[in-house]
Amino acid sequence: MFRHIRSDIKAVFENDPAARSIFEVVFTYSGLHAIWAHRIAHYLFVKRWYTAARIISQISRFMTGIEIHPGAVIGNRLFIDHGMGVVIGETCEIGDDVVIYQGVTLGGTGKEKGKRHPTIGNNVVIGSGAKVLGSFRVGDNSNIGSNAVVLREVPESSTVVGNPGRIVKRNGERVGDRLDHTKLPDPVIEMFRSMQDEINQLKAEVARLNKEAEQPAAQEPEKMPVGGGEG
Ligand SMILES: CC(C)(COP(=O)(O)OP(=O)(O)OC[C@H]1O[C@@H](n2cnc3c(N)ncnc32)[C@H](O)[C@@H]1OP(=O)(O)O)[C@@H](O)C(=O)NCCC(=O)NCCS
Repeated sequence: MFRHIRSDIKAVFENDPAARSIFEVVFTYSGLHAIWAHRIAHYLFVKRWYTAARIISQISRFMTGIEIHPGAVIGNRLFIDHGMGVVIGETCEIGDDVVIYQGVTLGGTGKEKGKRHPTIGNNVVIGSGAKVLGSFRVGDNSNIGSNAVVLREVPESSTVVGNPGRIVKRNGERVGDRLDHTKLPDPVIEMFRSMQDEINQLKAEVARLNKEAEQPAAQEPEKMPVGGGEG
């Protein structure tokens, strides 16, 4: 229990450069309060005291703005920064060393039954406002960009951004179908290039014709003077 509390506080210092003292962290970090309340609620949930678990979860939501269903399974050193608006669903599983910012939803699509919320691997960062919806896995060491809407499995060590979410980086390398804006075709330049090619061809043709026109005159033999000579 105390080991958990110590590592939760340590996670705050590791992830938030604004954290100053243990006293400040313990009394003012709503993410920590939500996680501690969740540990009690989850304990009651596992013991099948569902209503008591939900009551604790709702009191915690009222105090912190963070709603974690008591059934969610949360690993070690989760850090919820700012927290307001975070929703974590019942069948969600979260690994170790995960960072979640405000406005994140780890929810269902409304189409699935049973396990309907995501499984988040270890060492994952989920940016503010991101929605991760469905019963798939987000692989270890992945980053979900703020405001991304993720609807499919995310492989390990990937960065996903946008709506719908797409992988833009894998193992540190850029991937995907994003256009390289420095290499976009420019239709005006293309048109000038093709006109220049045509002009060069026409110039070569004119030069050839001029040469041909000059050649017969040059080859013509010198004409004899017409008429008799003097005397
Ligand atoms: C996604 C994130 C974690 C960075 O991960 P990363 O693997 O280091 O990715 P990069 O910064 O190299 O970005 C990769 C590409 O995704 C783009 N990108 C990054 N975050 C994005 C986002 N949220 N939405 C759209 N595109 C984004 C980058 O512009 C970059 O595009 P480019 O390759 O065309 O230049 C970070 O951008 C992010 O969103 N962090 C959340 C932070 C947050 O919520 N803070 C709230 C504090 S209160």
